[in-house]
Amino acid sequence: MASTAKTIEPIISAAWGKPQSWTLDSYRKRGGYEALKKALQMEPAAIIDEVKKSNLRGRGGAGFPTGLKWSFVPKDSPKPKYLAVNGDESEPGTFKDRYILEDDPHMMLEGIAIASYALGVHTCYVYLRGEFKFPAERTQAAIDEAYKAGIFGKKVLGKDYELNCYLVRGAGAYICGEETALLESLEGKKGWPRLKPPFPAVVGLFGCPTVVNNVETLASVPAIFQQGAEAYAKLGTDKSGGTRLVCLSGTVNRPGVYEVSMFTTLSELIFDDKYGRGMPAGRKVKAVIPGGSSAPVLGADELDVAMEFEALKVKQTMAGSGGVIVMDDTTCMVRSLWRVARFYAEESCGQCTPCREGTPWQTRLLRKIEEGRGEPGDIDMLSNVASSIAPYPPIGLGNTICALGDAAALPTHSFLMRFRDEFEAHIREHRCPFGDKPWGSFG
Ligand code: NAI
Ligand code: SF4
Repeated sequence: MASTAKTIEPIISAAWGKPQSWTLDSYRKRGGYEALKKALQMEPAAIIDEVKKSNLRGRGGAGFPTGLKWSFVPKDSPKPKYLAVNGDESEPGTFKDRYILEDDPHMMLEGIAIASYALGVHTCYVYLRGEFKFPAERTQAAIDEAYKAGIFGKKVLGKDYELNCYLVRGAGAYICGEETALLESLEGKKGWPRLKPPFPAVVGLFGCPTVVNNVETLASVPAIFQQGAEAYAKLGTDKSGGTRLVCLSGTVNRPGVYEVSMFTTLSELIFDDKYGRGMPAGRKVKAVIPGGSSAPVLGADELDVAMEFEALKVKQTMAGSGGVIVMDDTTCMVRSLWRVARFYAEESCGQCTPCREGTPWQTRLLRKIEEGRGEPGDIDMLSNVASSIAPYPPIGLGNTICALGDAAALPTHSFLMRFRDEFEAHIREHRCPFGDKPWGSFG
């Protein structure tokens, strides 16, 4: 399909793929750290107000308004305050933050410096998933450059304000991307999520107020001060300012990471010449997961929806972490769900019963159905197990300590709601109707 999607000037991805884009020299030539200079001349409260006006929402998955989160940090607390950057990107289908870390880490570092100054933070930890060896090397090199250039250290750009930034690598556990598990891990403990509230903004790292922001969220901050908050807000919808990165994978002709307008629809992302360029010849879309594997799946007739938090909420799914997974008509939905369920069962930390017991139970039932051993009643039992972990809808009100429980249950509910006939066919025919080649997008 020829391009009809709204054209945007890329912000986050503008320099990706250009020579030496990850260096301080390249970033400065593009106006890098000018936003920090501006911010350092403002009152911290005015910086937070600007971020509120920009309508920037968290890009890690939950879409919480960034300025509002910053404003929850108590101003009069005698305790130190911390900024923790969540770079544990592990949600299946999500692979955008790594490009910021590899190709333009200074954009995130500038966001860190602006946020830290606004929040009265003197120590920031950048927490990267263990597997991110190369992104970690690039990011550490950028941190070293920033220290040498006086961006971090005793006096940030000559101002009487000290900021230190440390890179920490996780050990490859998905759960450490949950913000409170991440804080536990930073404290040197096992990555077990904490009950919320209290939220980290009030009781976070070492019991002190801590803002946890995603890599892309912080990389979006400099643009707010370069363009002005109103201009940034106007790029998006009433409730979601700016542009966003989405990761397109599955059966499409041109998978990849694309920076899109908040008005871009799933259908445009998949079919437009600027993005996915449609499906391979002879294939049709069967289903799309719009926001990382925890987001409820949509059917082929539901793709005319903007990839924005509120628009996808209306469809009872989530914009989440921007991982768009396309499944074609050769994909077995039972096997796909089994694949997703195995992931959550494997990554459950085991702290609370519905998640610890329910996630492997889902996996066992799905395997049984996929292998042709399913019995009448198994589908209801599967639905029951998922409901015990988290009911559907509403989204986000599960029976567990952290959102991994919701993430494990929501796919089950949505697959059963939209593709129940496939589950029934497996049980009726005592086999997978997709035969020997059922893997489709979920190989
Ligand atoms: P959440 O909705 O509990 O919280 C969102 C953020 O807002 C948190 O930082 C929380 O501390 C803050 N917050 C919310 N209410 C607050 C209040 N009253 N006071 C102070 N702070 C408040 O969601 P959560 O658990 O942080 O994230 C879940 C999402 O993460 C999922 O929807 C999923 O899409 C995404 N995710 C992303 C991954 C990735 O690799 N990017 C991996 C796994 C999940
Ligand atoms: Fe651990 Fe699952 Fe409970 Fe989260 S929901 S704390 S991952 S057992």
